Amino acid sequence: MATTTSLGEALQDVRARTLDLVSPFSHAELERVQHPLMSPLDWDLGHIAAYEDLWLVHRHGGEPLLRGDLADLYDAFETPRDQRGEIAFLRGQDVFDYIAEVRERSLDVLDRVGPGDGTLFEMVIRHEAQHNETMRQTLFLGGLPGGRPEPLADGAPPHESWIDIPAGSFAMGAGDHGFAFDNERPRHAVDVPAFWIARHPVTNASWMHFVEGGGYERREWWSAEGWSWKEEYDITHPEGWTADGPADDDHRPVLHVSWFEADAFARAHGARLPTEAEWERASTWTQEPLQDVGAAWEWTSTCFDGYSGFRAHPYPEYSEVFFGQGHRVLRGSSWATEDRVRATTFRNWDLPVRRQIFAGLRLAKDVT
Ligand code: AVJ
Ligand code: FE
Repeated sequence: MATTTSLGEALQDVRARTLDLVSPFSHAELERVQHPLMSPLDWDLGHIAAYEDLWLVHRHGGEPLLRGDLADLYDAFETPRDQRGEIAFLRGQDVFDYIAEVRERSLDVLDRVGPGDGTLFEMVIRHEAQHNETMRQTLFLGGLPGGRPEPLADGAPPHESWIDIPAGSFAMGAGDHGFAFDNERPRHAVDVPAFWIARHPVTNASWMHFVEGGGYERREWWSAEGWSWKEEYDITHPEGWTADGPADDDHRPVLHVSWFEADAFARAHGARLPTEAEWERASTWTQEPLQDVGAAWEWTSTCFDGYSGFRAHPYPEYSEVFFGQGHRVLRGSSWATEDRVRATTFRNWDLPVRRQIFAGLRLAKDVT
């Protein structure tokens, strides 16, 4: 497992990214609610520190919380996102002082107590990295810099083709060693019938074609639930597009579509979303690798649930409380995901109406 030095460096590395991300913004910008779906950026900062204080300083180091009075405020379950604009979270210089002070304490614990098996440190490092992506979603929805990918250097369209994966059994999920989130375990054998999966994710250009071909008007391409969502909110294109089309490169994977839209797009193309098991099998299929994994999260058809034999670790609120609630699994990672949290077995999830995620799709088909 990881050493004291490498964990200390990783903590500092992710912190440098966090501070970089917020450095362009004034205190006023950081405490503003940028979008009703998202927390103010100051809340994410305080929450990152409160989580670190709880797991590293208090639970691992056995010391009292630095600010026990803030624990509920920064608990994602005690204080849901839509209430985070009004509460008395730390703002301005106070939140920067708080995150720095907690960090000093956790580095002291690392020196004094050691890393243990490293799991809690790795969890805290990845938690901060995950919140950095969440904060980028906030920047995107708020129209602030840092919420969109850099322009492509090479604008060549991907060559459209399918990878043919034969029926077979594979080992799904994370093995017993090394860090993984609880919902990635246990590793288990899954039989997957033969299927086709697209080599590349769906691009902005293809999505534009879908829009122009009546994609948002043809009832027959939509599920009943998807259609009523689309009608109610008058959805006519991905989040962040202008009337003229995509705001970033044509040949880049489409971003900010809901599961309902992804599902409709697939039906319009005589295809479907891959299941989560198909996605993972395809991504370990070394004969012909999937292209552009890591540019956009990819919606799958699978509802988020625990694998058979799941055990919550170290706390049920990380994933278990979301099981069986109609969240759909997303796989891969996006341009905004930090390397440390990218993993083939990683499972992301969100509701089928959500579009703040940097998410698109890759088509799949039954073999006929
Ligand atoms: C795995 C991205 C769905 O943001 O709710 C952050 C990650 N968990 N703090 C989320 C997470 C606790 C989680 N996702
Ligand atoms: Fe969190």
